[in-house]
Amino acid sequence: MSLLAEREARVTTDALLSVKDLRMTFPGRRGKGIKAVDGVSFDLRAGETLGLVGESGCGKSTTGRMIVRLLEPTSGTVHFDGRDITHLDPRQMLPLRSEIQMIFQDPFASLNPRQTVQQIISGPRKLLDRSGVIDLLKLVGLSPEHIDRYPHEFSGGQAQRIGIARALAPKPKLIICDEPVSALDVSIQAQIVNLLEDLKAEFNLAYLFIAHDLSVVRHMCERIAVMYLGRIVEVGHRDAIYSDPAHPYTKALLSAVPVPDPEVEATRERIVLLGDPPSPAAPPPGCSFNPRCHKAQGRCRVEVPVPTVVRGRQVACHFPEE
Ligand SMILES: Nc1ncnc2c1ncn2[C@@H]1O[C@H](COP(=O)(O)OP(=O)(O)OP(=O)(O)O)[C@@H](O)[C@H]1O
Ligand SMILES: [Mg+2]
Repeated sequence: MSLLAEREARVTTDALLSVKDLRMTFPGRRGKGIKAVDGVSFDLRAGETLGLVGESGCGKSTTGRMIVRLLEPTSGTVHFDGRDITHLDPRQMLPLRSEIQMIFQDPFASLNPRQTVQQIISGPRKLLDRSGVIDLLKLVGLSPEHIDRYPHEFSGGQAQRIGIARALAPKPKLIICDEPVSALDVSIQAQIVNLLEDLKAEFNLAYLFIAHDLSVVRHMCERIAVMYLGRIVEVGHRDAIYSDPAHPYTKALLSAVPVPDPEVEATRERIVLLGDPPSPAAPPPGCSFNPRCHKAQGRCRVEVPVPTVVRGRQVACHFPEE
C-alpha cells in the first residue's frame, strides 16, 4: 500500500470519537432506575458531522453530556483521539476540555449574565487577549463593538453566536451541538446553521449535532443516528436515511418533514405517531417502539431487536421497512 493510501485508510477507520455501549441510569422513584441512555454506540471521524435525532426525552442531551463529561456514565466507554477518557478525573480532563466543546440550546441560559463578551469568550483560563476575542467576534458575524457588552444586550441569534465563539476559542476538534437552533426564530436558524457549516469547513471540526426532528440535520450531516427511548434504532448515511428509511420510527419522523415541492407535499404519505414515547422509567418489553409501531407483531413485544445491517445501514428492528 502506498503511503497516501495507508494514510487514507487510517483516516477512514480511525474514529475521533468512539462511544461504546454507553448507559446512564438516573435514580428514579421507588428505587426504579430511569434508563435515560441504554446502550448507545457510535463513531465519529475527524471533520465529520453526525446528526443525533429523536423526540424529547429520548436521551440525546444525556448522551452529549456524558461525552463532555458533564455527567458520569453508569457504564460504557468514550474514546477520544484513540484515548479512553471515560474515567479521567477532572485534572486529567483539563487538556481535553479544550478539544471537546459544547454549544447549548438556550444561548442565554448558557452564558453568564454578569460577564462581558470578552470574559465569556476568553473563558476562565483567559485563552485569548482582546484582539484574539475581536478576531473571533468577526469570525462568528458579530461586531468588535460588542466586546464589552453583556448577554442581555443581544438577540437570541447573536447570543448563540457568542456561545459559538466561546466554543471555538480553545481550538476544539469536536463540538457537541445540543439543539443549537431549536430556540431561535426560524429566520435565524438557517444563518446559524450556515455559520456552523462555514466554521466546520474552515477548522475541520467534527460535530455531534443534536436535533429533535430530521429537517434541521438534513443539510449538515453526513450520517444520522435516530434515537428512541435511550437507544439508537437506525444509523447510516444521510441519503439512506432520507430516501429509504428502514426503521418504522425513522419513517414516521421523516413523514413529519415537509417537502418543498407542493405537488409531492400534497400527495406524500404521512405517518402520525400516536401518543408520547413511553417513560424511560417504565419502558415496554421487547422493542421499546412496539406500542406506537404500525408494523409491530408478537415478536416485537417480547424480543429486543439487535442492530443488523439493512441496505448499508444499521437498524434495530425485527421487521424493517422494505
Ligand atoms: N438529572 C436527571 N435526573 C433524572 N432524570 C433525568 C435527568 N436528566 C434527564 N433525565 C431524564 O432522562 C431522559 C432523557 O433526557 P434527555 O434530556 O437526555 O433527553 P433529550 O433527548 O435531550 O430531550 P429534549 O429533546 O427534550 O432535550 C428523560 O426522561 C429525562 O426526564
Ligand atoms: Mg435535550
